[in-house]
Amino acid sequence: MNTKAIIEVNPQLPYSVEEAINRLRINVSFFGSDINKIMVVSSEPNEGKSFVAMNLWKQMAGAKEQSILVDADMRKSVMVQSYKISREDGKELWGLTHYLSDNKKLEDCVLTTDLEYGDILPNANNIVNPSLLLESSRFKGLLDLLSEKYRYVILDVPPLGLVSDGERIGHLCDGAILTVRGGVTPKSVVRNSIAQLERAGCPLLGIVLNRVGAGSGRYYGKYYGRYYGSKYYTDKYYSDKK
Ligand SMILES: Nc1ncnc2c1ncn2[C@@H]1O[C@H](COP(=O)(O)OP(=O)(O)O)[C@@H](O)[C@H]1O
Ligand SMILES: [Mg+2]
Repeated sequence: MNTKAIIEVNPQLPYSVEEAINRLRINVSFFGSDINKIMVVSSEPNEGKSFVAMNLWKQMAGAKEQSILVDADMRKSVMVQSYKISREDGKELWGLTHYLSDNKKLEDCVLTTDLEYGDILPNANNIVNPSLLLESSRFKGLLDLLSEKYRYVILDVPPLGLVSDGERIGHLCDGAILTVRGGVTPKSVVRNSIAQLERAGCPLLGIVLNRVGAGSGRYYGKYYGRYYGSKYYTDKYYSDKK
């Protein structure tokens, strides 16, 4: 039996942001049942990967799609601290690195949540070099196992521009959502990330243009969807409230 997690959830997001994530969820669902393991990635830190991954997972679970959020940023994960994740039974929190390197059982690492259809596999112990773990058969086996059990496996991963983890993980995923910090990340850097995903053989499912105008205290952004190169959808959302 999995234990339940205590998570301090985000304050309620503005309706327009909820709606943008909802559109992203619906567009991902249009890709069909082959798209199951999805990584949320960016070129640089602070572009909103974890924000998008967490909210996409929440909405998928809310739509009664069995979903798991995997914190695969094993170098510099902040999810446990940001959302103050702990175990309801008070025991030590174990996560992805414990499963991969300490041979812990999966049911001791995966936690249920208040969302009936949403589980999480946190990362409770950062490590300096996860490359070998990501190349291990245990990691690939884990993704296979999760994709049998869950309709969506959402992976929050390190930035593509810094380390090769994202490419390694992308190679094992069915697709990627690229988060881009609007007005900050140069186009050349974004192009480079798209080329990296292509090299990894990971189809680009969509681009989220995020945090546009965040400096002025607004939630503001655009969502673009791409399917193997052709743009199929654009939208714009913003709110004055934070
Ligand atoms: N659309 C958004 N609106 C407002 N704040 C955001 C948005 N996206 C991200 N943030 C905030 O920006 C910071 C960086 O986002 P985060 O998801 O942690 O980035 P990453 O995982 O790419 O490093 C966090 O404090 C997060 O809450
Ligand atoms: Mg992050």
